[in-house]
Amino acid sequence: MKVGIDKISFYVPKYYLYLDLLAKERGVDIKYENNLGQKKMSVLPPNEDIVTMGANAALNIMKHENDIDLLIFATESSYDQSKACSIYIHKLLKLNSNCRSFEVKQACYGSTAALRLALNHIIINPKSKVLIISSDIAKYGLNTPGEPTSGCGAIAMLISQNPRVIEFDNFTGFITKDIMDFWSPNYLNEAIVDGKSSIKHYFSTLKETWEIYKKASNRNLNDHDKLCFHLPFTKIAEKAYNQLCRLENHEFNSESVDHGLIYSKEIGNTYTAALYISLISLLDNFKQDLSDKRIGFFAYGSGCVAEFFSGIVCKDYKKNLFTKVHLDMMSNRQSIDMNTYENYYNYSDLYYPKDGSQLTLDLQSSSSFILSEINEHKRTYMYNPEYEKLNIQKQAIVAES
Ligand code: HMG
Repeated sequence: MKVGIDKISFYVPKYYLYLDLLAKERGVDIKYENNLGQKKMSVLPPNEDIVTMGANAALNIMKHENDIDLLIFATESSYDQSKACSIYIHKLLKLNSNCRSFEVKQACYGSTAALRLALNHIIINPKSKVLIISSDIAKYGLNTPGEPTSGCGAIAMLISQNPRVIEFDNFTGFITKDIMDFWSPNYLNEAIVDGKSSIKHYFSTLKETWEIYKKASNRNLNDHDKLCFHLPFTKIAEKAYNQLCRLENHEFNSESVDHGLIYSKEIGNTYTAALYISLISLLDNFKQDLSDKRIGFFAYGSGCVAEFFSGIVCKDYKKNLFTKVHLDMMSNRQSIDMNTYENYYNYSDLYYPKDGSQLTLDLQSSSSFILSEINEHKRTYMYNPEYEKLNIQKQAIVAES
């Protein structure tokens, strides 16, 4: 049976910060574009969160989808230890009640864990469809080396039999290792990171999982037309690919990775969503036909779990992409100044109530879903009342309701 991604889309909020501005403000004599490969980072306004971003990402792919019986939400930015954020999204997207829904976590690897689970679910239940949503806020301390690798965003992908975008097989190389390169204790607002160690383990697990995958699949680097990597910052993909080329005595060809980096250079790290934003970037921006071409994927989640796997691009995949929606979203974003960035950065820590009191949030938003209120420790979400007026994402189910 053929199984894989039938539809895939992503969402980023409207606001971004130029990293040149950040470097200037922090007194850092570096162009972040040169060392990290990053131009901008997405910034989350106070009335959006991982739920609204995730629901937004799914809007494009939800039209005429009534058979979803499993919703998996991958995140490492969850705000509740018990209730899965998938339940809010299930309601916002009006999914059938006859649907399992839960949240998974293993740093940035959570989305790939969800994908492997979903593929097996479809093999056992061929008529079913699985919706995977990955949504994250990559937040490092202000004025730390991690800060220029911040960002936020979400992806949604529909997994089914006879997919129309990417088909996967079962040859994968995966590995788990107990290391402390990046972690987020519950009582802290930002991750703790040992940057150098995280990069070292990213590269070492790439080599280890590649070797396992290569042996299992009997494929070499030549069998892969393109490669997509987990992208904490885009420069890492060029270095990772270079390492694979040296290992395999393969000629370095930047075309193998470049198109997968276009969106992330302008967004920053999105943790669980990053690898799949790279895939969307490649499919949207590579103009030639990729039908029947093999793409290699490297997923890395600090802590750590890593996996190398691959997929074949389906015939006619271009008809099933949301390229125009994505390009419009990216070009309609708005630059903010340092003051607004720091206000948005601090907003949830300073103003989201921790004592059960009420906070009403601004309803002005370009997002289709809004976090409208926090009261009695509960978050309330709503459809954007301005939505009908905003001439965007016209295909959305919300507009039909
Ligand atoms: P840093 O201290 O800013 O940079 O931290 P550095 O001193 O390591 O320098 C970085 C590179 O810039 C070096 O190049 C310098 O030479 C170069 P390299 O030796 O690597 O080739 N450089 C310059 N280049 C041009 N012009 C200049 C200049 N100066 C220096 N003037 C770091 C960078 C990425 C470590 C930091 O931003 C960080 O800690 N980020 C967060 C952690 C991270 O992103 N880790 C990546 C791997 S782990 C991962 O991907 C998982 C993760 O997504 C979390 C999860 O799984 O949930 C993070």
